[in-house]
Amino acid sequence: MATIDYSEKIPNNVELAEDKALQRALEHWQPNYLSWWKEMGPEGSQDFDVYLRTAVSVDPQGWAHFDYVKMPDYRWGIFLNPRDEARKVNFGEHKGAPAWQEVPGEHRANLRRIVVTQGDTEPASVEQQRHLGLTAPSMYDLRNLFQVNVEEGRHLWAMVYLLHKYFGRDGREEAEALLERRSGDQDNPRILGAFNERTPDWLSFFMFTYFTDRDGKFQLCALAESGFDPLARTTKFMLTEEAHHMFVGESGISRVIQRTCEVIKQLRTDDPAKIRAAGVIDLPTLQRYLNFHFSVTIDLFGADESSNAATFYNSGLKGRFEETKRDDDHLLHGQTYKVLAVQDGRLVEREVPMLNALNEVLRDDFIKDSVAGVGRWNKVIEKAGLPYRLQTPHKAFNRRIGALAGVRVSPDGRVVSDAEWAQRERDWLPTAEDRAFVTSLMGRVVEPGKFANWIAPPVMGINRQPIDFQYVRFG
Ligand SMILES: [Fe+2]
Ligand SMILES: [Fe+2]
Repeated sequence: MATIDYSEKIPNNVELAEDKALQRALEHWQPNYLSWWKEMGPEGSQDFDVYLRTAVSVDPQGWAHFDYVKMPDYRWGIFLNPRDEARKVNFGEHKGAPAWQEVPGEHRANLRRIVVTQGDTEPASVEQQRHLGLTAPSMYDLRNLFQVNVEEGRHLWAMVYLLHKYFGRDGREEAEALLERRSGDQDNPRILGAFNERTPDWLSFFMFTYFTDRDGKFQLCALAESGFDPLARTTKFMLTEEAHHMFVGESGISRVIQRTCEVIKQLRTDDPAKIRAAGVIDLPTLQRYLNFHFSVTIDLFGADESSNAATFYNSGLKGRFEETKRDDDHLLHGQTYKVLAVQDGRLVEREVPMLNALNEVLRDDFIKDSVAGVGRWNKVIEKAGLPYRLQTPHKAFNRRIGALAGVRVSPDGRVVSDAEWAQRERDWLPTAEDRAFVTSLMGRVVEPGKFANWIAPPVMGINRQPIDFQYVRFG
C-alpha cells in the first residue's frame, strides 16, 4: 500500500489526481469545510501544536503516525482499505454477485440516505464537543479530545468523498448540507437525536465516547459488510480510528471511578454529599449519567421493527455486525427475532420476522459490547474493596424511538406509573443539580503531568510517551 502524499491539497489513496472533475469538486468543498471547522471546531484551539496521530497509509505501520500538528493544518485525507478483487455481496437478494464498484441504480436513494446519515453524525459530535477544551482536566485529556475531533472531521471527509464520487449533483448538495446543519439547532438540527444533545462537561464527553462512539462502531461494522465496496472499504478504515475514541471514553470513566473510590476510602464514607464536598463525583451520579447516555444512544439504532432495515439488508446495502462470520443463510427469510412490547402493563417479548427486526439485532449486539466495559469499570470498584456496582439500565428505560417510546420503565425493567416516574426520575437520570455540580468541577488543568482533582491520571501516556509529556504546545 503506497504512502499517502501529504504535499497534495487533499491527501488520499484513491488516485484523486486521476479524476480531475472529482478533485475540483472536493477542492471546492474543502474551504467550506475549513470555515465550518473554524466556526464549529474546538474552541480556542487555533495555533496549538498538538501531538496527534495522522494516517500516512492504511497499513498497520502507517495508520498511526504521531507528530505535532498545528490544529487547523491537520491534513484531513481520504483513505480506503485496499480492494479485494474477489469480494462478493455477502447477504440479501444479490448474495453471491461481485461486490459493486458503482452504485446500483435501483438502490441509489437508499444508499445515499445511509451515507448522509452516517456522515451527519461526524461533524455533529465535533460541534457537541467544541467547548470542552476550555475545561480540560489535563493536557493528556486535551490532546485526546482534539484527536477525537480531527478524526471525526476525517470521517466526514470519508462520507463526502463517497457523495461526490458516486452521487453526482445531489451528492454534492448533500455534502454542502452536511456543513449547514448544526447540532441542537432549532431550525436545522443534525439528523439523529443523540447528536443534538449537549455534551457540556467531561463526564458527558467520556460517557459519549464510551456509548455513542460505540454506536458508531456498530454502524460502521454493519456498513463495512456492505455490497457497495467503496463504502465497505472506507468504513473498515474508519473503524481503526474509532477504537481510540471508545478507549478515551472507557479509560476516562475508569479514571473517574478510581479517583472517587480513593476518596471514599480516605473519608470512610460513600455519602454523596461528603464525596461531592471533597470535589469528586459520587458513584450514584455516575450511574445516572450512564443511564442517560446508554438510553439516548440505544435509540440511535432506530425502531425495533423497521421495513427500512429489512430493505437495507435485502438489497445488500447494510449487513449485520460480523455478517460474514455468522453461520446462517444470510437471507433470513422465515426467521424470527424477539422484540419488546407492553401488554397489560408489563413488558413482554414478541416474535417478529427477523428481517424487520435488524435494528434490534444490532442494538442487542451493541448492548452486549457495552455491558462488557461496564463490567471492567466495576472491577475498579471491586478492587478498591467497595460494594457499589454500576449497571446498564434495561433497554426499555427512557426510550424515545420505537415501540417503547414514551412507555415509563424503570432502570430495572418494571413498567411504572407516571406518578412513580415523576417521583423517581431524579434517582434515575441526571438532575439539574447533578449537572450543575459536575460543571462546578470543570476547571482547566493543562500543566504537563497535572490532573484535575476529580480524575486519576492514566496508566500510560499516548504512543508510549510519559504521562507528563508535552502533548500540547500552546501558541
Ligand atoms: Fe466517527
Ligand atoms: Fe468516533
